Formats: sequence, C-alpha cells, structure tokens
Amino acid sequence: MRKIVIAGNWKMYKDLEDVRAFCKAIASSLETKDLGRVLPILAPAYPFLALLQRELSDTSVKVAAQDASAHSEGAFTGEVSAAMLTSLGLEYAIVGHSERRAMHNESNEIVREKLMMLMDNSIKPILCVGETLEQRDADDTQKVILEQLNGCLNNVSLYSAEDIMIAYEPVWAIGTGRTATGEQAQEVHSIIRNWLTHTYSQALADEIPILYGGSVKPDNIAGLLAMPDIDGGLIGGASLKADQYLEMINIALESRK
Ligand code: 13P
Repeated sequence: MRKIVIAGNWKMYKDLEDVRAFCKAIASSLETKDLGRVLPILAPAYPFLALLQRELSDTSVKVAAQDASAHSEGAFTGEVSAAMLTSLGLEYAIVGHSERRAMHNESNEIVREKLMMLMDNSIKPILCVGETLEQRDADDTQKVILEQLNGCLNNVSLYSAEDIMIAYEPVWAIGTGRTATGEQAQEVHSIIRNWLTHTYSQALADEIPILYGGSVKPDNIAGLLAMPDIDGGLIGGASLKADQYLEMINIALESRK
C-alpha cells in the first residue's frame, strides 16, 4: 500500500517567528496521533530547515528542502549542496519545481543533475513535472510530461520505491485557485504510473507515490485523494496555515483508498 503524502511547500514565505508559531501549533496534536500510512512533509526555506527538524522531532513530520545545487561543493555563492542537506539528516528535497524551471531557467538536464546529486547523497527527490496552460490548450500535456520524465530520469536507476516521489503540478493550477479536477489530475497520474511501469517495473510503479499539486486545500483534497493514482498533495498556499495543514492530514487519515 502506498503512503499518502501531505507535503507543504512553503516557498519563500514565513520568517523565524512565523515558523516557530507554526511548529508550536502543530506539534502537540501530531505528537499524540497515529498517522498510519499518512506521511506529512514540510519544506521551509533553507534557513529554517534545522529549526523545523528540532521543533518537530517528536512528530512524524519529515522536513524537506525546496531545491539543492547541481554542484557537489565549491565557489558557488548562494547555493546549498545536497551533502549539506544530508549532514542535517534530511531525507527529502523538492526538485524541478515549475517556479525554478520558469524563473531560473532549469532545464530537464539541470533537474536531472540535481536529482542525481540528491540521490548520491541519500536524499529522496520529490520530482515535479507539469504542463503550462498553453501546452494543455495545444493538447500537448502528455508529450510534455513524458519529455520531463524522460529527461529528468534519463538513465537514472531506481532500486526501491522509497528512492523517489513524483509530483504532478500543472502550472496553470499553481497559486491560481484553479485546481485540476480529480479526473484531469488522475488522467495525468495514470500516464506517469504507466511510464514508471514501462521504464522501471510494475512493482516499483505500484509503490512510488505520485502527488498532485496546484491549489490543493482542505475543501478539495478529499476528492483528489479519492482518485486511484493520486497519493497525496504538494501544497503551497494552504500549507502555510497550521489549521489547514492539520485539517488536510486529518482528511488524508480518513481516506480509505
Ligand atoms: P499552491 O498550492 O499555492 O497552488 O502551490 C502549489 C505548489 O506549487 C506546491 O509546490
């Protein structure tokens, strides 16, 4: 049975005080809860990774980075290496987010380099893929998703379903309030799962979590999780509020898929 992942991507939001307040608000209710196969993840900005780990150490929340450098070390001012993340004890990092692809010109090749660097340092990538509205309107969704998967995972070996998660995030649904319908998302999730089956194996494809991202919130997450190939959410805006984040975890706990 696959995990149900409730992953919050905080992007460039929250300062120290906000982060402390969020942790305080969720720690006590999560410390006492049996989360079964629900896996909560939070990805704060770099300066707060260690703090979150410390503040949430008695909960099952896993802390993730939002990105990592494609370089191993050196004179790269402003960059953070995968090895640095490993030294903090992190297990996960987002890679290939559409905001980085669009605003920092990250190609599939660069995303692949970052992903390999993460894997070499025992960090599990949460690989984001997704089409723009223009691409969807031109009926290119499948082509774009397959290009991204083939490019970012070109010759990348996976030995276990624990090695990676994929997040389908249609660019037109991010921060717009316009969520993909469960059916629209499911269609792409099943394309991704089929690709994993053909590229790797049925056994791996059956176990790799595929998350949906794009305007997920407490009001729509149950419908998305009800879809057979949607194994959780990568959530921006709604993950910034402690009560909404907890609510989405509770909804995931009730999902009987
Ligand atoms: P929103 O949930 O704010 O649309 O953001 C989605 C996202 O980009 C998560 O990585």
